[in-house]
Amino acid sequence: MESELIYSLLNPRILQKIILRLEIKQKFIEGVTVLDKYVVSGGKPLCGEVTISGAKNAALAIIPAAILSDGICRIENIPNISDTSAVIRILYELGANVKMINKSTIEIDASKITTHVVPYEMTKRMRASYYFMGVMLSRFHKALIAPPGGCDFGVRPIDLHIKGFEALGATVNIESGMVDIQADRLLGSQIYLDSVSVGATINIILAAIKARGVTIIENAAKEPHIVDLANFLNSMGADIRGAGTDVIKIHGVEHLSGTTYSIIPDQIEAGTYMVAAAATGGDVLIKNVIPKHLESITAKLEEVGAVVEEYDDSIRVTRPGKLLKCNVKTMPHPGFPTDMQPQMAALLSTAEGTSIITEGVWDSRFRYVEQLTRMGAQVQVDGKVAVVEGVSELTCAPVKAVDLRAGAAMVIAALMAKGTTHIEDIYHIERGYENIIEKLRDLGADIKRVYIEGQTATQAM
Ligand code: UD1
Repeated sequence: MESELIYSLLNPRILQKIILRLEIKQKFIEGVTVLDKYVVSGGKPLCGEVTISGAKNAALAIIPAAILSDGICRIENIPNISDTSAVIRILYELGANVKMINKSTIEIDASKITTHVVPYEMTKRMRASYYFMGVMLSRFHKALIAPPGGCDFGVRPIDLHIKGFEALGATVNIESGMVDIQADRLLGSQIYLDSVSVGATINIILAAIKARGVTIIENAAKEPHIVDLANFLNSMGADIRGAGTDVIKIHGVEHLSGTTYSIIPDQIEAGTYMVAAAATGGDVLIKNVIPKHLESITAKLEEVGAVVEEYDDSIRVTRPGKLLKCNVKTMPHPGFPTDMQPQMAALLSTAEGTSIITEGVWDSRFRYVEQLTRMGAQVQVDGKVAVVEGVSELTCAPVKAVDLRAGAAMVIAALMAKGTTHIEDIYHIERGYENIIEKLRDLGADIKRVYIEGQTATQAM
């Protein structure tokens, strides 16, 4: 349903209906009554071709950044997922004119936005809503924004974002559940990030883009979507250099013009299908990828016995023999991505021997382990380390997606497992994976979405 939102922007009456339905669905989510689940009959290798959508985390920065343009921004290759629908909805509610060109392309004219306020109702569902802080600060020199929602990996501070805004000359107060940011003027500054933060790097770029003088971010994050955001802003006339390295220099400019820009393919969606192919002993050609972005995932899959062939913009994963153990430590890019950690754990749960997974980014990202053990996995967690003793096979069980990537891990586990697994709370998964049911079915998976009302389940899709 939420994917319809993007189409509905053509027609305000349809939009009203969709918003109403979204609100009803949200009530179910908040009231813990979640209606849809996936039903997966496992044990079949995935085979065939899959095409990767645009990068979620790039889109979630680039769409709000259109607010900084004086002209019209045409953004292509937007993934049709509920997180992008939510951010487009925020823009629409703030007063932007958003036009749907086709299912993955929109045009944004943000010239009519006059408010710097983004209330809790708009931000509560997604982490990336914090980018409106940098954007509003840059455009209006003030922002009043509710702190973000999103996946629960323990404490998710925004102190580095605030440190960056303050270094540019803003004052930041948190009162009555709102972050109040004000600046008479923004001046370029040198900002050292005490730890590598994707969100803080992006937010400081956004806030500094029109600041007077030069801003230098040291110990910046290097993720592909930071480079993508910088390329988008540079295509509008910004002057950002060094994105993709740990020192980023931003020369402030007065105006940003309109642009046409196509978002990069999603590294994590591609990685998820790579792991799924290896986990099921399949043979999958993954199209529309940037192989360079997948190197850390490729390296680990080769260690576990998969064969990965790289082409210009596609990658083929097969796994002819047994799954072998390996150790994984998540780190900021170009290290192994934390957003691939749960999927890798699902794969390693049936690898021969003992694998050690160390979470190097988030304090608490093993909440899904309880679900995986319901399917027969043997995993012991001690703080930021999980020890996975490979078992010969997983078995079906009722499980749930505790967050977005944990949900992807449950899907992979279910595809590997004997029997039919039911996965609840799938709204997490649909925040980040476009058409996952169709894409997996095209690869031969037996997966369907089922709508449950009371005790009766009827197939909805
Ligand atoms: C982004 C991604 C998320 C991914 C994460 C790490 C989006 C929308 N989300 O999240 O999927 O898991 O990068 O690759 O792009 N930290 C602080 N202070 C801050 C900010 C962060 O201490 O002000 C810490 C965090 O607690 C965490 C680490 O830095 O331990 C990394 O966080 P960060 O890179 O900021 O993650 P997000 O941008 O929120």
